Amino acid sequence: MDQESTNILTVDGLNVSYGNFQAVQNVSFDVRKGEIFGLLGPNGAGKTSTLSAIEGLLKPQSGAIIVDGNNAKEKPLHARASLGVQLQSTSFQPELYVVEVLQLYAGIYGVPLSKDTLTAMLKDINLEDSATKKFGQLSGGQQQRVSLLIATIHNPRLVLLDEPTSGLDPQSRRQLWERIEAIREKGNAVLLTTHSMEEAEAVCDRIAIIDHGKVIIIDTPQAIIDKYRNDPEVISVSRRGKITLEDVFIALTGKAIRA
Ligand SMILES: Nc1ncnc2c1ncn2[C@@H]1O[C@H](COP(=O)(O)OP(=O)(O)O)[C@@H](O)[C@H]1O
Ligand SMILES: [Mg+2]
Repeated sequence: MDQESTNILTVDGLNVSYGNFQAVQNVSFDVRKGEIFGLLGPNGAGKTSTLSAIEGLLKPQSGAIIVDGNNAKEKPLHARASLGVQLQSTSFQPELYVVEVLQLYAGIYGVPLSKDTLTAMLKDINLEDSATKKFGQLSGGQQQRVSLLIATIHNPRLVLLDEPTSGLDPQSRRQLWERIEAIREKGNAVLLTTHSMEEAEAVCDRIAIIDHGKVIIIDTPQAIIDKYRNDPEVISVSRRGKITLEDVFIALTGKAIRA
């Protein structure tokens, strides 16, 4: 198959600036159909800026973004129609009831939602008893489940998730990983950002490590570990004698703490 038919997303030479500050510098990667792809980087690396450009929420300085064969510059509506988006800090109106939030977004996406469908959806995210609760009354994990459901309510070909599991307890995180894998099982693709190496190793088929707006390496988590296994810097930062993805990440991005 050629690239056009295997890729659901192609990002080529992307540059994003805020005034004089260039937050994303010549970033290129692709996400293949049926793949979970992770963008990994410390705070401020440029992950959200990259996603925002793909989502059409900010205009890149230059570079091509092609979603499901549609160039985002030439056919922005076609490109966006293939996307499902969960923003880094999604917060729906806290005073709306859960059913109202779902009905609102189903309406926006033009997805018909019968009472039975709605009940089945709520059951699927273990919130059948919370339909009459207000969004603001849900726990963090419950809110995340609702926002993932909304991001995928129109069965998009590519789902973009910005730090979907940050702040979740281990049980909620595991469950969310399964939901993310279920998207892949349907044949759709996921592009997520994280700074959890454990998460990247657990769910991502391939990852790109980015820092200071630039891609450092793209490969499978295992291939990245194997490539740097004997690197003296990686060995020097490793703990308890076992080389992990986090060791490679720290060696590649440095030990300095980011704001
Ligand atoms: N609206 C903005 N105006 C100016 N600078 C911004 C803006 N948004 C992000 N930045 C800067 O761009 C860089 C990348 O930010 P971001 O894409 O949010 O990183 P990440 O999501 O990887 O933490 C950071 O240095 C951040 O401070
Ligand atoms: Mg971010």
